[in-house]
Parts: sequence; C-alpha cells; structure tokens
Amino acid sequence: MSVTNETSVAVIGLGTMGHGIVQAFAVGGYPVRGFDEQPGSRSSAVERIAGNLEQLTEAGLIEEAAVPDVLGRITVCDTLEETVAGAGFVTEAAWEDLAVKQELFGKLEALVSTETILASNSSSFKISETARDLDHPERAVVTHWFNPPHVIPVVEVVGGERTSEATVTTAVEMLEGIGKMAVRVDKELTGFLVNRVQVAMMREIWDLLDRGVATAAEIDRAIRGSMGLRLAALGPLAIGDYAGWDIATATFENLVQDMRGDTEIPGRIRQLVEDGQLGAKTGQGLFSYPAEELPGQLARRDADYLALVRLLHGGSAADGGPA
Ligand SMILES: NC(=O)c1ccc[n+]([C@@H]2O[C@H](COP(=O)([O-])OP(=O)(O)OC[C@H]3O[C@@H](n4cnc5c(N)ncnc54)[C@H](O)[C@@H]3O)[C@@H](O)[C@H]2O)c1
Repeated sequence: MSVTNETSVAVIGLGTMGHGIVQAFAVGGYPVRGFDEQPGSRSSAVERIAGNLEQLTEAGLIEEAAVPDVLGRITVCDTLEETVAGAGFVTEAAWEDLAVKQELFGKLEALVSTETILASNSSSFKISETARDLDHPERAVVTHWFNPPHVIPVVEVVGGERTSEATVTTAVEMLEGIGKMAVRVDKELTGFLVNRVQVAMMREIWDLLDRGVATAAEIDRAIRGSMGLRLAALGPLAIGDYAGWDIATATFENLVQDMRGDTEIPGRIRQLVEDGQLGAKTGQGLFSYPAEELPGQLARRDADYLALVRLLHGGSAADGGPA
C-alpha cells in the first residue's frame, strides 16, 4: 500500500466536493481521473476547476505558469471502469446516502486491486458501515474534506473497526503530501470530530434565531467578531486555557440547563427547507444570492477563506495552540 506521486487518484462524484478534491490532488502532483453519473457534472468539472485555479493564482497561492500542468493531470472519464482502472487511491464524493455509498463501494471493489485504498468523503457515515460488505475492508477509510475542499486545509482521516493501520497512515501521508492538514481521528463516531462540534453549535444558533434573540445578520456579526475571530487564531481548548477552566466550568454550569438539548430542527430552519429556500444554491436562504451576484459572492467568500489560510500557515499560532 505504498503511494508515490505516480499513483493515480480517482474521484467519484464531481459535485460541490468532488471537483475540488480532484483539483487538490492535481495541484499536489497526482494524476487524477474523475467520474460523475450526471453528464452535466462531468462536462462542467474542468471548467469549474479552471475557475478555482484562477482564484488561487490571483491570491498568489499558485504560480500562473503551473496551471496548465495541473489541468493536464486531470482526466474526466465517461465510465466508472475507466476512471478507477489502475488507481491506487479512490475516493467517493457521491450523495450522502448510506445505500448509495455501500453499493458504490461494492462496485469499486470489483474493479480495483485489493491494494487500492477506498476512501469515503461522507459527512457522517462511519466507514465500518459504508465498507460493511467489502471482502477487503482493511483498505477502506473515511477522508472527510471541508467545503471548499481546494481551500480548507483540514481533512479528517477516520479508520473503522476493520481498517488497517497501513491504510490510515498512507491516507494521512498522501494528504499531508499535497499540503492538507490531515487530522487523524482515533475513535470512530458518527460525524467524526468537526461535524459533531458544528452540529452542537448550530443547534443553539438555530434556536437563538427561532426565539428571535437577534436577527440572522446580527447573530452572524456577533459570532464572527468574537468566537469566529478567536477560533481562526487558536483552538477551542487553548482558548479555554487562556480563559481559565474555573471561569469556563462556572459558565458552563450556569448556562447548560437553559440551552437547547433536544433533537428537533427549530421551526424557522425547517420552514426554509419546506419553502425551498435552501441558501446560495436556490438564490435565497436566510440571506439573498441573486444569480448575477452569486459568482462575485462566492469569489469574495473564497478570497476571505484564502486570507485566513495564509494566516493559519504563517501565524505565530500556526499549530492551533500557544506558540
Ligand atoms: N457540501 C459540503 O459542504 C460537504 C462537506 C463535506 C463532505 N460532504 C460530503 O461529500 C459528499 C458529496 O457532497 P456534495 O456536497 O459534493 O454533493 P453534490 O450534490 O454537490 O455532488 C454529488 C455528486 O455525486 C454524483 N453522484 C451521486 N451518486 C453517484 C454515483 N453512484 N456515481 C457517480 N456519481 C454519483 C452526483 O451526480 C453529484 O454530481 C456527500 O457525502 C457529502 O455529505 C459535503
């Protein structure tokens, strides 16, 4: 299970996540083949990647001269078979549906060697579930990227009950090798690590919105200028060290009884979904995304993320803890 830059990578599903994952591996020097069951996603993938690369070039994170080589390492194929032939590392970024992922893994296992790593970009499903029916589950692993995957550094690497140590180590090395912050998660839980924290926070934020504690814009402003700013510079546990655990535990005890602890989705958010106001992809969520403004809005978002990525790599607390 040794991986070199000659190892070819295959990505299945070229939507929001998949096309960015293709790009990240190609920027990192790997030949990458991509496949999507929807012809439209296949035909637009390279154009979407070229657009992302232009942004990275403008942000000074990639040399303009390197772009043709990056694009030259990418092939979009018309069949799953062609995509994974000879691949050393295959990752799926298909629908978040366990049955779809299990079926896909079954198909993949029939097409690749027993040495090929099969990775899942699931946001929540354990690899022990996705790879349940594989003959060789020791090469299956979660590599969970964050959107946009060509920008956000962390990728969680989570093995399952039957994943081998070599698979986890190889996945970590590959991801670190392409400049990602691979975070090894030692215990397999639904949702892994970061999404559990995000969901805990979102439950409270959605509840505050539902109860009319502040407007959506004010909630975002409050979090960005306080927690958000701190978290961009330090990890939450280091922040706790600076605050003092006596204060932190007293605050926890005073608040936790009064906080949302159930599993209901608050009404305001449920209503958005029922109304088809899904956010940027439908033009309207809590905020507006007119079609003519969306490309500029996304470009500004990614430029801001990229500025923070530079801070993360260059700041005095680059490891997330006290320098
Ligand atoms: N969007 C995010 O922020 C995010 C972040 C981290 C992880 N994820 C996870 O990544 C995966 C993909 O999410 P996304 O946001 O890119 O979804 P998406 O809807 O943008 O793209 C999914 C793509 O997969 C294709 N697809 C589905 N089943 C397929 C199959 N069997 N074979 C080939 N192609 C197939 C679809 O045609 C579609 O283009 C999901 O598991 C999701 O939970 C998403």
